[in-house]
Amino acid sequence: MSNTSISGDRVAARVLQVGPLKPSLAETLRVRYDALALPEDRADRTDFLARHGNDVIAVVTSGRSGVDATLMTALPRLGAVVNFGVGFDTTDVDAAAARGIGVSNTPDVLTDCVADTAVGLMIDVMRQFSAADRYVRAGRWPVTGNYPLTRQVSNTRVGIIGLGRIGTAIAKRLSAFGCSISYHNRREVEGSPYRYADSPVTLARGVDVLVVAAAGGSGTRKLVDEAVIDALGADGFLVNIARGSVVDEAALVDALRAGRLAGAGLDVFADEPNVPEALLSMDNVVLLPHVGSGTVETRYEMEQLTLRNLDQFLRCGRLVTPVLQPTVRV
Ligand code: 8YV
Repeated sequence: MSNTSISGDRVAARVLQVGPLKPSLAETLRVRYDALALPEDRADRTDFLARHGNDVIAVVTSGRSGVDATLMTALPRLGAVVNFGVGFDTTDVDAAAARGIGVSNTPDVLTDCVADTAVGLMIDVMRQFSAADRYVRAGRWPVTGNYPLTRQVSNTRVGIIGLGRIGTAIAKRLSAFGCSISYHNRREVEGSPYRYADSPVTLARGVDVLVVAAAGGSGTRKLVDEAVIDALGADGFLVNIARGSVVDEAALVDALRAGRLAGAGLDVFADEPNVPEALLSMDNVVLLPHVGSGTVETRYEMEQLTLRNLDQFLRCGRLVTPVLQPTVRV
């Protein structure tokens, strides 16, 4: 599909890539949609937006970059922000709603992989597989002897913060491990087979493992704070596959340092790709570089869904998997 070109009083309608994307998606945008890419450099950006800002009707971005209100203002004809990823906390949805701009994400297609990652992190941090692997590679087995005993995963009590699509998929998997599941959401999920806790502290107090699966954004910022971590306690484990912003990272590091928490399995961080230095030397912490959805199969499905959203928006002004449908006509 090509963009409308300038002819007479018709104005160019362009697709804009904001931030780095999966290389094959960026290539498709460039080749099939003649998309422009927003320069990373701030000074180049100003010049670029002065030249092209008026032409852009759709942005394709990811949770790494998103579109803030300032960028929306610089794109006065913007009709849709098409987000590669389920999390859209880096896009200002309120500012989009106020301007009639639609926002889409890629739900469902990544649920299984992110839930697998949560379970993998839980097993790894409790059984210390990554640390035990390092032990073998360092030649310590024949010298130091058997690896110290670790903690059982099956039949533990697991609390999930955010019983949405991904939280529910985690709960299903862990039920098969004999785990008892409880959860905290803003509201109790009607008909849920899992026990509801009315606050994160109450949830943390009654479980061995706390899994964070809530969406990021201002509503959940530092929801898991010092009080929640202390309620989880010195024998408790934290797993986060959601957003680093949901956890008070400084409080987490302090608790791990002081032995007030048994361990943490983390796929996400407050300031990615930067990971707190103190965590790097801890064997009771498993650190992943935000790979929850990072499989060939899932990233392919995310790419296809992103393109379907873009296509449908360009064809008829509607999004396939909207967080918010556009209300402006482009
Ligand atoms: C992606 C994610 O890694 O979907 C999300 O919200 O965090 C991950 O699946 C990310 O969006 C890609 O930038």
